[in-house]
Amino acid sequence: MTRIAVVAGDGIGTEVVAEGLKVLDAVLPGVETEHYDLGAARYHRTGEVFPDSVRDELAGHDAILLGAVGDPTVPPGVLERGLLLKLRFDFDQFVNLRPSKLWPGTVGPLANIKPGEIDFVVVREGTEGLYAGAGGGLHRGTPAEIATEESLNTRHGVERVIRDAFTRATARPRRKVTMVHKTNVLTHAGGLWARTFADVAAEFPDVETEYQHVDAASMFLVTNPQRYDVIVTDNLFGDILTDIAAAVTGGIGLAASGCINPTRAYPSMFEPVHGSAPDIAGKGIADPVAAILSVALCLDHLGHPEAAARVEEAVAHELANRAPGQQIVTHEVGDRVAVALS
Ligand code: NAI
Ligand code: MG
Repeated sequence: MTRIAVVAGDGIGTEVVAEGLKVLDAVLPGVETEHYDLGAARYHRTGEVFPDSVRDELAGHDAILLGAVGDPTVPPGVLERGLLLKLRFDFDQFVNLRPSKLWPGTVGPLANIKPGEIDFVVVREGTEGLYAGAGGGLHRGTPAEIATEESLNTRHGVERVIRDAFTRATARPRRKVTMVHKTNVLTHAGGLWARTFADVAAEFPDVETEYQHVDAASMFLVTNPQRYDVIVTDNLFGDILTDIAAAVTGGIGLAASGCINPTRAYPSMFEPVHGSAPDIAGKGIADPVAAILSVALCLDHLGHPEAAARVEEAVAHELANRAPGQQIVTHEVGDRVAVALS
């Protein structure tokens, strides 16, 4: 029996996860789900962010479905670092997978690109780089203040994420991997990435390779996103590039992601790229598609690729039938997708 832990979290997280679960139940009835109360409400009630006991319980599940965390009433970083990043680090979710597709019916901001032409996936390193928390400060609040934030890159960490990108590319029709970094300036980390990329590429002779600096890639993601198939990059670059990718494919309401531990030593986590959206929370107008597509990624990871494909098809149908500018009603979107599946 598949067991999924649900952390709906804050704001629209709870609204969109409800629709994701509706769809999960329609496509694969009988999956056991257990809800965990984490986020702003628990923090205010008990002061707890992510107790070890909850962490241990989550570790026993096959996967985690997360909505979003973060609330204006909680100091910035408390939940984002204490819960979200801690989950990704503790469960060693080193592949942050973010697919980008321009779905038929979706209006993107790029005038000359037709639906179907953008279809790539970003494999972002998830446990190292500038997000590892290495750094410190001295003389805080004085004119002599110093702050450092160091980017940690290990051969082990870089190699495993690059190998994951190549493995994913072999299962895709175009079989191409683009590494994005800034090797001309960040020569220490960049050198490690470039050498590792070359070594791993040699194991995959039928995968085409390409390298781009992150500034050039930012430009090409806007001017020529069709050129990409699989992009592999470090934690910070991947965070930024995937927001550009979401923007050119119809917005943050459609962008899904997986924080994946391919070794399966710990559960992987699936979540929309967006946050808790306090500006629209409680209004019932958040687009649940990103959460629903995250469920599809989860199904694929758990060995149900047909169910994942059916969810994607149902989402494609939903998006193709949206009238331009139509107001979204969160639960109606979930209902339509679920009905299409049952
Ligand atoms: P956000 O993604 O929550 O919202 C940005 C904008 O996009 C807002 O105008 C929002 O209304 C809109 N938006 C987001 N998702 C949408 C959806 N499904 N349908 C329609 N519109 C949508 O990012 P923001 O405002 O920077 O952060 C809000 C809070 O969320 C903060 O506390 C932040 O730290 C947290 N956050 C959490 C994330 C997570 O849990 N993975 C990721 C990003 C932010
Ligand atoms: Mg981000």
